[in-house]
Amino acid sequence: MLYIGIDLGTSAVKLLLMDAEGKLYKIVSREYPLCFPHPGWSEQNPEDWYKQTVDGIKELVQDVDRKLIAGIGVGGQMHGLVLLDRDDHVIRPAILWNDGRTGEETDYLNTAVGKQKLSEYTANVAFAGFTAPKLLWVRKNEPENFARIEKIMLPKDYLVYRLTGVFCTDMSDASGTLFFDVKNRRWSQEMCSLCGIRLSQLGECHESYEAVGTLLPETARMLGIPASVRVAAGAGDNAAAAVGTGTVGENMCNISLGTSGTIFVSSGQFKVDRNNALHSFAHADGKYHLMGCMLSAASCNKWWMENILKTSDYAQEQKAVGKLGQNHVYFLPYLMGERSPYNDPDARGAFIGMSMDTTRGDMTQAVLEGVAFALRDSLEVARQLGIPISRTRICGGGAKSPLWKKMIANVLNLSVETIESEEGPALGGAILAAVACGELGSVEEAAAELVKVAETIEPDAGLVEKYEERYQVFREIYPACRPLFGRMK
Ligand code: XUL
Repeated sequence: MLYIGIDLGTSAVKLLLMDAEGKLYKIVSREYPLCFPHPGWSEQNPEDWYKQTVDGIKELVQDVDRKLIAGIGVGGQMHGLVLLDRDDHVIRPAILWNDGRTGEETDYLNTAVGKQKLSEYTANVAFAGFTAPKLLWVRKNEPENFARIEKIMLPKDYLVYRLTGVFCTDMSDASGTLFFDVKNRRWSQEMCSLCGIRLSQLGECHESYEAVGTLLPETARMLGIPASVRVAAGAGDNAAAAVGTGTVGENMCNISLGTSGTIFVSSGQFKVDRNNALHSFAHADGKYHLMGCMLSAASCNKWWMENILKTSDYAQEQKAVGKLGQNHVYFLPYLMGERSPYNDPDARGAFIGMSMDTTRGDMTQAVLEGVAFALRDSLEVARQLGIPISRTRICGGGAKSPLWKKMIANVLNLSVETIESEEGPALGGAILAAVACGELGSVEEAAAELVKVAETIEPDAGLVEKYEERYQVFREIYPACRPLFGRMK
């Protein structure tokens, strides 16, 4: 049988077709616009997600025996606020994970309600991109929209709803809403009351690998695939990527270098970082994970290449990068503010350390290194918790660059493993679909069977030492700039 895995990303939706042996038949990708209506705001139109996904599915299944398609699993950008009214109309554009408008609401939750209570109810504190502060923002700034809300959804759940008519979510994605009691894997009545919503406005919560329904008959007809196709609950894109890179079980690590940058540590047990600098979320394998998320990772490089240098030849620019570990230029990658570990929506990007001999290559190098240093900030928090991490898997668009992977191996002092299929979240989605259809055993068994390491990049002791020195400088730059960022708004 065949399974469709979908990654509903921030710049595009990616879809793939896989069989139960893990063989990939086709991969397609379709872009949609991302809108920044104010500095630090980030929105998208859910109809664009749906339209591109439908067109993507049609293209994906063009040349195969469609009767063989058995399941669909979606991994999607997390935290986005999608609001539907009683006629199922989208009330306003979705407010995305990297939107920083909720400074006031985040402060209210973390101070007036208090971090301790939030952590007790949800295992997390409020971050600007999480769903609950956004809902409070809508309540205050758009009361007429707030009054119309019938359903509150996450981005991938909107797709599942349009495909199946079932209003639901999964535990990994629900974890990022701040309405979810992660430890006990259920919605938090306390958080719903605090934010003025009813439990019925949130969908029913499933494990990621459970089938939630089948395609609506008219949707199946339109797509040209059987109405018996089962749709899995799916997962937040990071949990889906972790499944797609085999990051399941105890203390496995995955780095995703996409629009955001995440470092994801899987865990058999519920764990929480005392300072809540890392997110404590449910995993798509039925267990848990800790995660640090930086808001701009590969997007820093995209911004630098396309908006500033006006080139699309990333590889050519990276050829001009000089000696690793020896750059006098530093870059703070906080173009959309920063989540982990600083929780500062006002943080901004900065180049520092240039001199008259600084070259274009030095600045390109600084951008790539700045992202690696910022990932290290989150890794340090995990290390302080005593989690032994010596190797990581890697996925996402940025992981296509051999230079960037080498930097990451040496800045983080980790063996970096690439996977035969680079399609992290979409592959994870397809695996979840196959488990939901009963063709593969547990998520853990499926990942062990289907995910194969292609290459390992080992850190080099000399480079690790050089980067250690530079990291010690990097980590002092943000605290020195922080007082200024709030005045730059
Ligand atoms: C994770 C997060 C991002 C988005 C990107 O907490 O906000 O990684 O899921 O799609």
